Amino acid sequence: MKKASLPLSKNFKVGEIDKRIYGSFIEHLGRAVYGGIYEPGHATADEDGFRKDVIDSVRKLNVPIVRYPGGNFVSGYNWEDGIGPKEERPQRLELAWGVTETNEFGTNEFLKWCKKANTECMMAVNLGTRGIEAARDLVEYCNHDKGSYYSDLRIKHGVKDPHNIKVWCLGNEMDGSWQIGHKNAYEYGRVANEAAKVMKMVDPTIETVLCGSSNRTMDTFGHWEAETLQEAFWNVDYVSLHQYFDNKLDDTPSFLAKNMVMDDFIDTVISICDYVKGLKRAKKQINLSFDEWNVWYHSNGTPVERWSKAPCQLEDIYNFEDALLVGLMLISLVRRADRVKIGCLAQLVNVIAPIMTETGGGIFEQTIFYPFMHFSNYGRGTTLLSKISCDKHDTKEFTDVPDLDGIAVLSPEEDALTIFAVNRSFEEDYELSIDMLDFGGFKPVEHIEMAGFGLKETNSIVSAPVKPTNAELPEIDGRNAKIHIKPLSWNVIRFEKDNQ
Ligand code: AHR
Repeated sequence: MKKASLPLSKNFKVGEIDKRIYGSFIEHLGRAVYGGIYEPGHATADEDGFRKDVIDSVRKLNVPIVRYPGGNFVSGYNWEDGIGPKEERPQRLELAWGVTETNEFGTNEFLKWCKKANTECMMAVNLGTRGIEAARDLVEYCNHDKGSYYSDLRIKHGVKDPHNIKVWCLGNEMDGSWQIGHKNAYEYGRVANEAAKVMKMVDPTIETVLCGSSNRTMDTFGHWEAETLQEAFWNVDYVSLHQYFDNKLDDTPSFLAKNMVMDDFIDTVISICDYVKGLKRAKKQINLSFDEWNVWYHSNGTPVERWSKAPCQLEDIYNFEDALLVGLMLISLVRRADRVKIGCLAQLVNVIAPIMTETGGGIFEQTIFYPFMHFSNYGRGTTLLSKISCDKHDTKEFTDVPDLDGIAVLSPEEDALTIFAVNRSFEEDYELSIDMLDFGGFKPVEHIEMAGFGLKETNSIVSAPVKPTNAELPEIDGRNAKIHIKPLSWNVIRFEKDNQ
């Protein structure tokens, strides 16, 4: 068995973990809304048409915030279409995904669903076909108490109390040529700044997210962030990052190293935020909203009938290696919890999602459900500096890939310590020796593991074999704990302070 070590101390704190790092995303896309969170007539539907089986599953994930309503969808969306009496709402051609949007579900329905799912809404405004005025009006409709046209309209629609949505995305992926209303950096920076300024005039308590690059391979990556941020610096709070990975080349060693790209992406965007901060001679710090991330490629090329309603779209079925990479991506986000304050697993239900439903039928939890659930439930508190010493290997795409990657999180009460770790090695068992420098009295209580599955093994509505099990507890000797980390495995090792 190979040996690895990890020294941990309460004094080596990287940063507080904002719980919103465990957010997710619901877009009007495919069966995320219709047949996903909303399906009147379904056996489990409540009086609002919300599927209770889906709500139960979302609650297991403990998702604190959900971005809505897009995504590419938002850039052609008239929010006014989705409010008021349902029978008066227009059907629209939805151009981003080539389907028909019935608008049966809209802002107030989503906000009601959020309450039932124990989460909050992160709202995106349309800066594609619309602009400052529509953004301003939506903030007024959602957040103003009463006594103005849009707040009174909300009340007329049966919602007395304001929704008080705190986080607002200024459009979506506006650097992408595919985006409805695509803009260059100057155009976008200007409109984002003006929209954010006016939205904050309506409600000064909100926070706004500037669209960063759609991904780091965009030609304009870096320049886009610097230029848009120079325009909008004083009216925005976060810059967004989006990243999807694939294993199209069926090269799993490289696939499992891809969160190193994410580490680099995060570091680069932090540098750009700080560069602009320097140019502005500012004290204000811009943080990161990693509001789309996941594995996405299995469903690519699946045909969709044009102008159909809520067809199957982007319904990736995830396998075990995807779960390992999702765990690694979460490690990367939490590693920089000092600056990454919001994260959204894209998406939540049916569309590149941890939760899958059958319209009119059952539900199942995909492989990627589990690392997310573990982090969201046990990864709250403070990130500790976690330098694992272990062997490294090369892959076709990467050099010096550590066999093990992991992160330690100290609970808010400092009475629990959780280590999340992935072994990327195909053959090597590791003995991870944790030197718990100042954790006297901490005892191991659980070692959750996902290991021994075929890399391409999946879950389905019929059977869901890829799920966590309990592994042997670490051996503890004084302040040293030794943990067996199996090849190709996901691990959650929990210690609690023994008060005896
Ligand atoms: O999440 C699916 C799509 O990916 C989103 O609509 C878009 O923002 C991104 O390109």
